[in-house]
Amino acid sequence: MKRCVKVLSAVILGLVVLGAIACGTSRFLSPPNAGRELARVWEVPHPAVVAHRGASWLAPESTAPAYELARDLGADYLEADLQRTRDRVVVAFHDETLERTTNVEEVFPDRSTDRIETFTYGELMELDHGSWFNQAYPERARDAYEGLGVVTLRELIEIAEAGPNNPGLYLETKSAQNHPGIEEDVLAVLEDLCWYPEGPELAGPDVTANAAVGAPTIDVAAGRSGIIFQSFHTGSLEQLIELAPEIPAVYLISAAMAEENGFRRHVKTATEMGALGVGPGGRLGLPWNTGHAHREGLLVHNYTINQPWQMRLLRSFGADGIFTDRPAVALEVFDRAEEIDVDAILDRLELK
Ligand code: G3P
Ligand code: CA
Repeated sequence: MKRCVKVLSAVILGLVVLGAIACGTSRFLSPPNAGRELARVWEVPHPAVVAHRGASWLAPESTAPAYELARDLGADYLEADLQRTRDRVVVAFHDETLERTTNVEEVFPDRSTDRIETFTYGELMELDHGSWFNQAYPERARDAYEGLGVVTLRELIEIAEAGPNNPGLYLETKSAQNHPGIEEDVLAVLEDLCWYPEGPELAGPDVTANAAVGAPTIDVAAGRSGIIFQSFHTGSLEQLIELAPEIPAVYLISAAMAEENGFRRHVKTATEMGALGVGPGGRLGLPWNTGHAHREGLLVHNYTINQPWQMRLLRSFGADGIFTDRPAVALEVFDRAEEIDVDAILDRLELK
C-alpha cells in the first residue's frame, strides 16, 4: 500500500514538473504578449475577436442576422468571404458552389453544382440562404432564419454602421482565381461607401445599450485597421496591398499549405509581400510557429477556434486574436466581457 502511494506521488510530481517545463518552454518560445505592441500601433484590438462569417454559431453563416448578432455581441471585426456574381455584385459567400447553404437544388436543379459566379445577384436572391441552418442545428433554429437572402458587401457595411457598436471589417477575397479583378471591385465599394481612403465617420458606439446586455463597446471601424484584408491567395493579397497599401493585410495559411511548403516559407511570403500578419489554421497555432511569426514582425490571428479550451490554449501560445463562430464566448474567455446576455440581443434584433 505504502509503495503504491509512493509510486502515485512520484507520477503526480513528474506530471507537475513536466507541465511546468512545457508551460515555461511555451512561454519562452512564444511569449503571450509578443504581438501586443504591434497590435497597439496598428489599432487592432488585442486579443482580437473576429466573427467568422458573422456569429455563425447562432445564425446562418454570412447572413444579415449573423452579422447583426456579431456586431451587437461586441465582436471587433465582421469576417466575410467575398465573391462576385455574374453581374459583378460583390457578396459574402464562402463555398464555391451553392448546395451546402442554399436550396439551389430545388430552385435551379440543372445548375445546382455550378459555381457562384455563374449566377446573377437576382438569381442568388431567389434562393433561401437560411433554412439549411434550422435543419442542421434544430437546437439553434429560428423562424426568422427561413428565406434569408445573400448579403452584399454594401449591405455588410450598412450593418457594420448600424447598431450600438462600430466593428471593423475583415475581408477575404475567397477563391480569388475565380473572380479576376475582384480586388478593384471591393475597393470601389469601400470607396463609394466612404470606408476608403479615409475611415468612415460614424457616431460613437452606444455605451448604455451595450452595458444593458453586458456586451463590450467596440469602435474599431474608424481606427487605422478598420478594414483588414485577408486571403490564402498570394496574388490577390499582393494586388490588394498594391492598390491600397494603407489597409493592413493578413496572409492566411492552411494546414495543407504548411504541410506542402513549410510554415516558415509562408511566413517569409507574408513578410516579403508586406503583410501585417498571418492567419494560420488552429492546428498551426503552436508556440514555435506563433513565436517565429512574431520574431518576423507579424501579428498572428488563428482560425477557426470555437471551443473555450482551444481559445485559452492558443492565447497562451501567443495568438494575437482568433477567428471564431462564437464571438460572445471568445470575449468572455479573453476577459473582455463578463457575461453577455445573448438572449436579450436576439430579442432586440427580433430574431424569433
Ligand atoms: O478567413 C479565415 C478563415 O475564415 C479561413 O477559412 O475557409 O473559413 O474562409 P475559411
Ligand atoms: Ca474566411
